[in-house]
Amino acid sequence: MTVLVFIDPSVPAGRVADASAPQLSVLDQGATRGDGIFESALYKGGSVRKLDMHLARLQSSAQLSDLDIPGEDVWRAAVATAIAEYDGEARRVDAGTGTGGQPDTDVEAVVKLIATRGPEGAGHGTSWVTVSPAPALGREQRETGVRVLLLDRGYDSTVAERAPWLLMGAKTLSYAVNMAALRHARKNDADDVIFTSSDGRVLEGPTSTVLLATREGNEKRLITPTLRTGILPGTTQGALFGLAEEAGWKLGYGPVVPQDLLDADAVWLVSSVRLLAPVTAIDGQPIATDAELTAELSRLIDAIE
Ligand SMILES: Cc1ncc(COP(=O)(O)O)c(C=O)c1O
Repeated sequence: MTVLVFIDPSVPAGRVADASAPQLSVLDQGATRGDGIFESALYKGGSVRKLDMHLARLQSSAQLSDLDIPGEDVWRAAVATAIAEYDGEARRVDAGTGTGGQPDTDVEAVVKLIATRGPEGAGHGTSWVTVSPAPALGREQRETGVRVLLLDRGYDSTVAERAPWLLMGAKTLSYAVNMAALRHARKNDADDVIFTSSDGRVLEGPTSTVLLATREGNEKRLITPTLRTGILPGTTQGALFGLAEEAGWKLGYGPVVPQDLLDADAVWLVSSVRLLAPVTAIDGQPIATDAELTAELSRLIDAIE
């Protein structure tokens, strides 16, 4: 079940449309060139988590891509309409299956905000929101962890400063390379990927931010690669670092090299929908995991609103 709401100036709350029917122009540059931006947020326990951060990053991606997109209030209205539709649909399904007509509060859904450059020659973009059930695999991987491959992304770690046209740091729709990297991992007995730069720095996963922890006596340090490498500023990492600091963790922002991952007490991939997935092996070699730290960080991530 996917709910679809288009942003449409003639319908201020957003225009509900049928997600199972054709809706997008074949000339839309989001489809023909991957020219657009998006956000994926988690809907859980009755709220869309970190919506402010997602809206801020959407605006930042739009600026980096020279895209004119609707304002935050318009997105909020479309998201609210989509969630109301989704909850209504879930209640109808539950009523039909005799579970009392109340949506399950444990239900997790993915809220996508998408904005493209629109149909060729139209002079306006296309924007929409979808809500669909969160994939079961992500939930599973929070428990089982992920085996990752280190894969070269082919850029050096200073490219973002030299080549702004590469749109490093923007969350664009051009994810074919990220998906190809994940397929490569799955063909090679792994579940996920950590990209490295051509000069040997740890970057990010195809859909996640890399975190590592070190313990020294009573001190716990949480480290993530520096944004200067051109990686996407992760909203989960950003929110988690705030809470971890309040809980007494020391924070560090790279640079990170592959040996740091092997030497760490624990490594995780974090993202908005899958949340926290422990890394259990790198390039076929088991690495250290820490159930206590995983439980602590999972609790902090669950507390992010
Ligand atoms: C390339 C990349 N890095 C990092 C992330 C994690 O970002 P967030 O925590 O905001 O979901 C994502 C999320 O999809 C991503 O695609």
